[in-house]
Amino acid sequence: MWYNGGMSLANLAAVTFPWDQLLPYRKLAQASAEKLGCSFIDTTVGSPIDDVSKTVQNAVVPSLNAHGYPMTAGFPELRKAIVQWLKTTWNIPELDENNILPTIGSKEVVGMLPMMLNLGPDDIMVRPSIAYPTYDIGAVAARTQILATNNIEDWCNNTSVKLVWINYPNNPTGECTSLEHLKAVVRAARRIGAVVASDECYSLFNWKNGANGAIVPHPSVLETALDGDFSNILMLYSLSKHANLAGYRSAFIAGDKKIIQELLTIRKQLGLIPPHISQIALKAALEDNEFITKILENYQTRHFLLHSILQRAGYDIEHSEGGLYIWMRTKKDEWEVLDEFVKLGILVTPGSFYKHSLLNNIRISTTIRTEDILEIGRRLGVEI
Ligand SMILES: Cc1ncc(COP(=O)(O)O)c(C=O)c1O
Repeated sequence: MWYNGGMSLANLAAVTFPWDQLLPYRKLAQASAEKLGCSFIDTTVGSPIDDVSKTVQNAVVPSLNAHGYPMTAGFPELRKAIVQWLKTTWNIPELDENNILPTIGSKEVVGMLPMMLNLGPDDIMVRPSIAYPTYDIGAVAARTQILATNNIEDWCNNTSVKLVWINYPNNPTGECTSLEHLKAVVRAARRIGAVVASDECYSLFNWKNGANGAIVPHPSVLETALDGDFSNILMLYSLSKHANLAGYRSAFIAGDKKIIQELLTIRKQLGLIPPHISQIALKAALEDNEFITKILENYQTRHFLLHSILQRAGYDIEHSEGGLYIWMRTKKDEWEVLDEFVKLGILVTPGSFYKHSLLNNIRISTTIRTEDILEIGRRLGVEI
């Protein structure tokens, strides 16, 4: 499926932000909740509701007097901590500090990577067929073309393809994949000289496998590097969901040294410096294993509870094998289903916000309180 970027960055100001379309529905859902005498439940925003760990909060306090400029490349202990965390999480011994770069959250990289890799109108950016909307914003900003597909065969012989985004577990569908598929993507991209950017912010939220119920990370694109060959590979990782650090904007990129050094230079020129407390929080969170285990357990409980409630309420769940969202296929038009939830005082997201043309999906975020998930069940008439 093809789109032409067409628009320029200036045109973006004229494009309605999809979530603004939900404002009238939010008001209606709030009014329904009031009429029913119950709470309004918003499942549309994937913003963490749980606290930042005390370890992270304590780590940033001594850094409040951050009067000097931080380093764009990250302070040395942070760089070491990122490498160490990647090595232990995915067992990638060949990584070193030249393979990583801290960023100001992942969204700015998603939005600016096509420009920073110098893509233009004759080039093509591939992104998942159902996708987080910011990949397309990045293509618009670079005035480059978009190919929306999950199939390698759709682009593997096309030398105009310069950048291939993948996102597993996927937002919004929760689709996961195998290491073999990641290897095939990297092989195909290298053959045509394209860069693979793997957006892995939901990697730890892998509900599919693990012996004895253990939660194991989803395969990473970094694991495809044989003998330390990270060429054409970039992995994006964010602590926004992993450690509830959305407010700190703590994230990083890892992979191809040459590209990382070019991005570092561009980021220095543009002043894209992660604030000092963002860097401190990132290091502390990566080292706080106990807290991560707790977060994963919380989300796993919420995920399976919501999954089972929606299934028992008669909805068809698709994928939802990882990540923080339940993705449902609806029998009716998604806006009709949205309306049914609104009448119960619950706001859900129409699937068409995720850049595909089907009109029969709903996304529900598990970044809500467990009590609210149980309350959704009660309102849908599911016995709890
Ligand atoms: C797929 C995906 N990529 C990137 C991001 C951006 O995360 P952040 O900018 O908070 O690091 C999000 C946030 O929801 C996301 O869902």
